[in-house]
Amino acid sequence: MGERAPRILLGVSGSIAAYKAVELLRALTKAGAEVQIAMTRGARAFVQPLTFEAISGRSVLSDVLAVERGEIGHVERAHEVDLLLVAPASANVIARLAHGMADDPVTAIALSTEAPKAFAPAMESGMWRNPATTANVATLEARGWTRIGPGSGALASGRSGVGRMEEPAVIAERALALFGARDLAGRRVVITAGPTWEPLDPVRLLTNRSTGSMGIAIANAAARRGADVQLVLGPTHLRPSAAVTVHSVETAEQMLAAASAIDDVDVLIASAAVSDFRPRDARASKLKRGHAGADVLELDENPDVLATLSARWRATRPGLVVVGFAAETEDLVDNAREKLAKKGCDLVIGNVVGADRGFGAGDTEVVAVRADGEQSFGPASKDAVAEFVLDQVVRVGEQTPRG
Ligand code: CTP
Repeated sequence: MGERAPRILLGVSGSIAAYKAVELLRALTKAGAEVQIAMTRGARAFVQPLTFEAISGRSVLSDVLAVERGEIGHVERAHEVDLLLVAPASANVIARLAHGMADDPVTAIALSTEAPKAFAPAMESGMWRNPATTANVATLEARGWTRIGPGSGALASGRSGVGRMEEPAVIAERALALFGARDLAGRRVVITAGPTWEPLDPVRLLTNRSTGSMGIAIANAAARRGADVQLVLGPTHLRPSAAVTVHSVETAEQMLAAASAIDDVDVLIASAAVSDFRPRDARASKLKRGHAGADVLELDENPDVLATLSARWRATRPGLVVVGFAAETEDLVDNAREKLAKKGCDLVIGNVVGADRGFGAGDTEVVAVRADGEQSFGPASKDAVAEFVLDQVVRVGEQTPRG
């Protein structure tokens, strides 16, 4: 885990799960991290600072006014941490973090530090599902915060549902993984993601069920691992973290043009669900029922974005690593293997799709197919699959000499 112990600032907020932060502190310390605790006022209603002080051997930051008194430099502290982890993160502290407030040590440090940030939500199901919380969580994630959990199970109210803080051991593992290698530093990674829209007329189009969530997860992970990430993104309401450069497109032809304009590419990951065809002669005005030929849809073939870019870039970038996706309903490995050569890929990630699988829904199961073998992964979250895909990219890159 590097030459020195990672320094984690563990922010504890007011939730019944605050007592579990004691276990989390133990797990992080045991794994070799140096942990400084900061508490909100709400947290102190649940657990005494002394409990944390006894285990961490450090005094707890719990008084934001100490900054004014010059006793504790929260802003200085902010520069000393490698990771800010807020666990448990109550609905209230998530709201205050999302709005940039700084009225306690946890939010004050969050506002001043440039270190990576993670949070483990803990609250009642109703609070978790409330659109206000959904929006606040989305705001933090869009700013690059890593969310850990929540899970489902028994809640403090006695009811059961989603909102339960993730297990301390899991939080510790995920938090420590954020110190993972920046093994894509200095690499430019182009990722295509999302569906395409192929217009028939000004209001109608051909498209598919893709949400772009897999490609966005890969983009976020690649940025965390130090890459310069250029995401060529079809129409979707999802957005990557602020560290990713987005090129928004609608059609397959626009996707190819936008990607073609990017220079010095080291890795191409084509996760977009590109429409293979587009309606011939998209109309300038809305088609009316009963017009001549209304029952016939004439199509032209779209360019293959992946195959085109791979062929073009390989000519000038000997170390280029190209990853394609094969969304299949059957014969996954055979179909994925066929795409390796056909589309000029070093690696094809195959996943099974159907109306209820693959497109934006739940856990994903994939198989990475290379010329010399294959490796299955999952079922796992899209974030975990993203890390797996990038591990494979790094591995292929190590075997390919760079020009
Ligand atoms: N792809 C692309 N441009 C296209 C079609 C596909 O870049 N016009 C890319 C996808 O992003 C994905 C891979 O090619 O990485 C496989 O897509 P898929 O639609 O499964 O491939 P097809 O060539 O359509 O194969 P099949 O018809 O056998 O499904």
